[in-house]
Parts: sequence; C-alpha cells; structure tokens
Amino acid sequence: LSCRSLENERTLAIVKPDGISGNYTISITNIILQSGFTIQTHLTLHLAQDTVTTFYAEHSTKTFFPSLINYMTSGPVLIMVLEKVNAIADWRTLIGPTDARKAKITHPHSIRAMCVEDLRRNCVHGSDSHESAAREISFFFPGYAVILDPS
Ligand code: TYD
Ligand code: MG
Repeated sequence: LSCRSLENERTLAIVKPDGISGNYTISITNIILQSGFTIQTHLTLHLAQDTVTTFYAEHSTKTFFPSLINYMTSGPVLIMVLEKVNAIADWRTLIGPTDARKAKITHPHSIRAMCVEDLRRNCVHGSDSHESAAREISFFFPGYAVILDPS
C-alpha cells in the first residue's frame, strides 16, 4: 500500500546573494528548522555565470534573464536540500510569492516579505514542482534524490 503524501520528500532551497549580504541566513535557517524541515546537506558557493545559466535554463528567453544572471552571480549563495513531508509545496508556501513587494502585502509572514528588495532580488529560491526539485537537487548534489529510496 503506497501512501506517498505521508512520505518525506526533498526540495532545493537557496539563500540568494541579497539574503546572505542582508544577514538573513540565520533567520531563514531558524524558520526552516522551526517549520519541521531537516537540512540534509548544504553548500556555500559563488555561482559562475554558466552555472546560473544552466540552472535557470527555463527562463533563458525571458527579458529578465540577463539581470537574473547578474544578480545570482553577484555574491555567494547558500544552497540546501530540505527534507520533510510535503517539503516542496510547504517550502514554496513559506517563501511566498515571486514578487517580494507583493509578498509584503499579501503574505506578510513569508520569508520573501521579511527580506524584500524587489521582484528581481527576492532573497530565496524554492523548487516549484516535483520535477524541478528532482532536477535542481541532482544539479547541485549528485546522488541526492527527491524521494528516499522506498526499499
Ligand atoms: P520564477 O521561477 O518565475 O520565480 P520563483 O523564484 O518564485 O520560482 O523566476 C525566477 C527568478 O527570476 C525569480 O525568483 C526572480 C527573477 N525574476 C525577475 O527578475 N523578473 C521577473 O519578472 C520574474 C518573473 C522573475
Ligand atoms: Mg521558479
């Protein structure tokens, strides 16, 4: 009998350069732990241009792509694999809407509302689906799966 929804899953979280430089890392990791996630592994990196280009390939044709690349390479980031039941959706809920100025109004308790800069600099990343989580986790952490091996 499979009961997927009660099984732990993993998602990829990133504290972006403005999150690090704004000293939000400790607040954010506290929220992560208080919300019942475990941090399975983490890595601090100053991302190279080609790394960000590949990571955000789905946005390569958007007008904001060059500014996204500039922003994401502007300083170090903290990349984490978070685990809990329903991790992917719950982490997206915790971070709030993409546009952090709107998050401030509609989701005042979200992480993006807490460290709002603007639409481009929204402090944190979260995988937006099971497929994205699988791709993004293995992109930075080969060998880590989105769902634990049930065997
Ligand atoms: P997106 O995947 O749409 O948002 P999210 O991070 O909530 O999944 O976009 C990726 C990042 O690109 C987003 O976090 C910030 C940046 N971005 C812009 O700079 N301008 C925009 O108009 C959008 C939609 C996103
Ligand atoms: Mg996205």
